Amino acid sequence: MPRTQMHLATVVSNGLGANPYAWLEPHVDPSDYANIHALVRYAQAAERGKLDFIFLGDFLGQSQRTEEHAPGQTLEPTVVAAAIAMATARIGVVNTVSATFEEPYNIARVLKSLDVISGGRMGWNAITTSAPHAAANFGRDIEDRETRYAWANEVIQIVQALWGSWQEDAWIADKTTRRFTDLSKIAPINLQGTYASSRGPLEVPPSAQGQPVIAHAGASPHSNAFAGRHADILISEVFTIDDARRQRDDHGAPPKQPAATPTASNFSPASPRRSPQPMPRLSPGAAEWSNPTSSSSRITWVSSLACSWDPRASTFL
Ligand SMILES: Cc1cc2nc3c(=O)[nH]c(=O)nc-3n(C[C@H](O)[C@H](O)[C@H](O)COP(=O)(O)O)c2cc1C
Repeated sequence: MPRTQMHLATVVSNGLGANPYAWLEPHVDPSDYANIHALVRYAQAAERGKLDFIFLGDFLGQSQRTEEHAPGQTLEPTVVAAAIAMATARIGVVNTVSATFEEPYNIARVLKSLDVISGGRMGWNAITTSAPHAAANFGRDIEDRETRYAWANEVIQIVQALWGSWQEDAWIADKTTRRFTDLSKIAPINLQGTYASSRGPLEVPPSAQGQPVIAHAGASPHSNAFAGRHADILISEVFTIDDARRQRDDHGAPPKQPAATPTASNFSPASPRRSPQPMPRLSPGAAEWSNPTSSSSRITWVSSLACSWDPRASTFL
């Protein structure tokens, strides 16, 4: 009989709790709002409790609605993730970074660095920011949904190609031959899209897990299709088991697969291979997407994308 295993995760947002009124509770210290030690303590408690990962959301604008409503987001989450990574040993950390308001080179560099320093425990929650007041902080408007997801589709491919721009054995560090790296195993990616482009390579070596896992939080049909194509983890907002099953089936995860069973924590794995609405791939020479079931298969795929493509033949900026 198959063994059903539930995956559990928890949200760490500000130091007070997800409920904006939590700070009013007698046992809550309001100064924990911007207290990194509190966030680290919660992460350590989650690790002791054997949870799979911590979810760090992010919002690029004001979240506070009234004076008695605590803002949802305090400290920048990649900074928080670095502190959590140094104070924990086993738990995963899934970090939200906007795929439409951050440059793919920066996303790739920051998250891969975190993956290296955490010993291969990072995930990227790749979202398409949809709030106009967040866009206003960048002097921009919010694009329509079609554009946002097309944009994110490019960015995620560039980020993964950058993550794969070092082959696993590129880092030699051989003092006798005076070779620090094998440069034939570190290749530019030269990806040019409509919304984003990057030359590469990244100067961050592969992490213990190869590269971060991909998560996606959302609920719209576009979001579901995007998760189905790219994500290892879908972070959903469903309130019944039936709704969770429906959403899982929409994005194409095989039904009845034990690991795909949605849990009370509302996290369910996605299956990239069966996306109902395929989106264009950036590289004409790219290998067919295969759903990596382990981090080693992931790095193999992305490395082959970066290295099978002759940089001289590709369009460069
Ligand atoms: C469970 C869950 C968590 C989310 N977390 C974030 C987040 O941390 N930051 C963010 O900007 N958007 C977050 N979102 C919003 C989505 O990524 C998306 O922008 C929003 O659902 C609107 O997108 P749509 O155009 O696909 O409807 C979250 C959505 C869900 C369902």
